[in-house]
Amino acid sequence: MPPSSTKVDAPRRAAADVISAVDTDSAYANLLLPRLLRERAITGRDAAFATELTYGTLRWQGVLDEVVGAASSRDVVTLDPPVRAALRLGAYQLLHMRTPAHAAVHATVELARATSGPRPVGLVNAVLRKVGGADWPTWVRRLAPSDEIGRLAFTHGYPRWVALAFDRALGGDRDELAGALAEDRPVTHLVARPGRIERDDLLRDAGPDATAGTWSPYAVRLGSGDPANLPAVRSGAAAVQDEGSQIAALAAARVGLADGDSGVWLDMCAGPGGKAALLAGLLPDGGRLVCAELQPHRARLVAGALAGDGQVVIADGRRPAWSDASFDRVLVDAPCTGLGALRRRPEVRWRRSPDDVGRLHELQVQLLLAALRSARPGGVIAYVTCSPHPDETRAVVDRAAAAVSGVRRLDTAAVIGVPDVGPGPDAQLWPHRHGTDAMYVSLLMPEHRS
Ligand SMILES: C[S@@+](CC[C@H](N)C(=O)[O-])C[C@H]1O[C@@H](n2cnc3c(N)ncnc32)[C@H](O)[C@@H]1O
Repeated sequence: MPPSSTKVDAPRRAAADVISAVDTDSAYANLLLPRLLRERAITGRDAAFATELTYGTLRWQGVLDEVVGAASSRDVVTLDPPVRAALRLGAYQLLHMRTPAHAAVHATVELARATSGPRPVGLVNAVLRKVGGADWPTWVRRLAPSDEIGRLAFTHGYPRWVALAFDRALGGDRDELAGALAEDRPVTHLVARPGRIERDDLLRDAGPDATAGTWSPYAVRLGSGDPANLPAVRSGAAAVQDEGSQIAALAAARVGLADGDSGVWLDMCAGPGGKAALLAGLLPDGGRLVCAELQPHRARLVAGALAGDGQVVIADGRRPAWSDASFDRVLVDAPCTGLGALRRRPEVRWRRSPDDVGRLHELQVQLLLAALRSARPGGVIAYVTCSPHPDETRAVVDRAAAAVSGVRRLDTAAVIGVPDVGPGPDAQLWPHRHGTDAMYVSLLMPEHRS
């Protein structure tokens, strides 16, 4: 066990523990931090400070590493993980928060002493004094790349390849790109699951600063407070679900079909079941929802979310456990980089790489091809990702649609009824335009064969 110290304040210690776990155990901050705050009874302003520290540090991590590297003349990967976490936290406070420099340095030195003993104290002190010896604009002048995309990436806390992907998805408008990269404050959205709770009732229970969602008739935007404390969330009648995800599930459920809808629907990549639970509530009378998921533990989460309203199968969507042309509607919410939810999972931008995009692109094409076989002629496939990367969105749909004959691409923007979703026929949502995650939706229809 590392030595402990009462001199370290609880929010900084919680932030450091999360940042270390993200670094060494691939933990997800949005899952771990709320748990630590609960376990350690950190509430109110302290919880808000710990959250700002954790999310801010993770968001800026790669850029902070460059600053720390320049200030220490060594690569941060050579440092012990708890020391690295302390330096990142300290640098974030010095460059991006209003913490007075002496307080940031002192608190971080004590943090390093508490997690690693006396040995790194001198190093942490010296490096942070150097970091704080120049302000953020000065570090930008010293270290930011000179090209426009590289500079925007550095000044907004992104790897260059991610900024480049966003630029491609936005069509090269650099002012808009800067706005997209600046987004970092997620609002918690809830879904009032149809048939289980009315949106107005959820809105009332969610407190005076909650508002109705803009696009989904089931969405509530939470103003403040922990959603886990709401009775409707505890009972499963409502859940945390980004409004963009609701729009995607609604598109799959609502688009008109040739020859009507017999209500046999497939959610091909269902875990953990957020969209499946919404689809289950939208099924026509007598309808049936089949939910496939590759990972057994995620399939169990789907079963929990459905509460008996659908059938869960552990299956690889590429090698279906069902006959071709069996379904009226197929949702393929494909595994993706998650670059569309960086406000909620800030660390993902530094964890993913262009290689991941290439690997996922292949998987996404295979899954979409299997979905095209699984839907009946005149049925519909909704291809969805929580990433705006063009290689995970348009390029996947282009490739799959070109590989099979008789596939019609539907006017997705018209179906979802949300403005500013791109040139079509598919739809790209954005945090800076819609207040949702950057979800991508494309609707396709296999045509009748003559
Ligand atoms: C983006 S998530 C789906 C999120 C889900 N639709 C929701 O709204 O809660 C993608 C899911 O696909 C699953 N998956 C990955 N490869 C798969 C495959 N070959 N067949 C079926 N599911 C797969 C992953 O385990 C993951 O749970």
